[in-house]
Amino acid sequence: MSNKMWGGRFASGPDAIMEEINASIGFDYRLALQDIAGSKAHVAMLAQAGIVTEADAAAIAQGLDAIRVEIESGTFVFSRALEDIHMNVESRLTTLIGAAAGRLHTARSRNDQVALDFRLWIRDTIDALDLQLRDLQEALAEKALAHAGSVMPGFTHMQSAQPVTFGHHLLAYVEMLARDRSRLRDARVRLNECPLGAAALAGTSFPIDREATAAALGFDRPTANSLDSVSDRDFVLETLSAAAICAVHLSRFAEEIVLWATPQFGFASLSDKFTTGSSIMPQKRNPDAAELVRGKSGRIIGALSGLLIVMKGLPLTYSKDMQEDKEGAFDALQSLSLCLAAMTGMVRDLEPDLARMKAAAGAGYATATDLADWLVRELKLPFREAHHVTGRLVALAAGKNIGLDELTLAEMQSVEPNIRDDVYAVLGVDNSVASRTSYGGAAPSNVRAQAENWLARLK
Ligand code: ARG
Repeated sequence: MSNKMWGGRFASGPDAIMEEINASIGFDYRLALQDIAGSKAHVAMLAQAGIVTEADAAAIAQGLDAIRVEIESGTFVFSRALEDIHMNVESRLTTLIGAAAGRLHTARSRNDQVALDFRLWIRDTIDALDLQLRDLQEALAEKALAHAGSVMPGFTHMQSAQPVTFGHHLLAYVEMLARDRSRLRDARVRLNECPLGAAALAGTSFPIDREATAAALGFDRPTANSLDSVSDRDFVLETLSAAAICAVHLSRFAEEIVLWATPQFGFASLSDKFTTGSSIMPQKRNPDAAELVRGKSGRIIGALSGLLIVMKGLPLTYSKDMQEDKEGAFDALQSLSLCLAAMTGMVRDLEPDLARMKAAAGAGYATATDLADWLVRELKLPFREAHHVTGRLVALAAGKNIGLDELTLAEMQSVEPNIRDDVYAVLGVDNSVASRTSYGGAAPSNVRAQAENWLARLK
């Protein structure tokens, strides 16, 4: 009889609830192909080591191949009563080949099996994300090359600071994404050790060859401690933390796209491909894709904190808490993949309004630093004094509600008598950016070279 307090939806007693809380097949079915690959490597090694006969191993391998076909074609029937992917596959194998299937689990446990499957899945996912990150970098670098000389305002404190170029701004994200790729690559290097053979937690008395299974599955070596092999999930944590940092980069860029696309900024527009209309306000074009990239960073960061919290109190070795490692990671990494695809599309789609960007670049006395630098270079003023003189000139122009370049020479000389009329050359935004030739600076010549360099490296 079902529990009176909470059993309304259950036909039978607590065992139905037990099945529901215990089962992981609802999400770990995603590990099916990795599970089969791991089992194939394991059984080949068992035969090689004389632990199972060649005939049994061949039957098992054939059965596993048949199951893979069923899974790939969508005909495999997953059963919750069988709890997880490991037992679903093994049970189907028994149906297909009979008693020999029972030999597959020799010298293995679900503990090393799941540690293996998840590592393989994370490794595959890192490789797929790396390709997507590369594509986004390429889209950014191509746009950056096209806009190496397109002047826009650079901001600090969200206030116009100094003119930069649109290309320079885009290349900032190419650099961030390069570090994201390198963090994922680092995680991949550390995770690339094979836990298979750790068995439940203590290793096994069978004469297994862990080097062989590690090599067959593309790992650099077997893991060195059986307890560690089945109990840590730091490979997931590292990958999620790299993913969370990447998601934060994408989120910041998404926020900029949202701002740029407002009528108030008007720096850039997205086409119908990445915007939606409002059901009530006909004039609206909402940058939903960018907003969702910004929003999804929340669940990606959440998956990282969630798993850190799951792991932090667990004594060695495996506890069932660790089954909670998967859903968050699947969701987070799939979300990141979607965000990368959306960002790549938006970058290709983004149309900058060059005239507005340029006008804004000159607003807010953005070339004041250029004026101060001119006073240092040409009149040999100490920088602090030049800063002060420039401040007075800005105040003078602001009082008249005009730009610095609209002050007359006489007005300028009323503040600093030695100013000459060649000062006007540095007050324009084009000259300002062109002068930023220090390594890594915003000068169009720099930006062009960096964008070309990136495009060559990304090939
Ligand atoms: N479904 C389990 C998980 O994801 C597999 C490992 C089960 N191990 C065990 N000792 N019950 O963690």
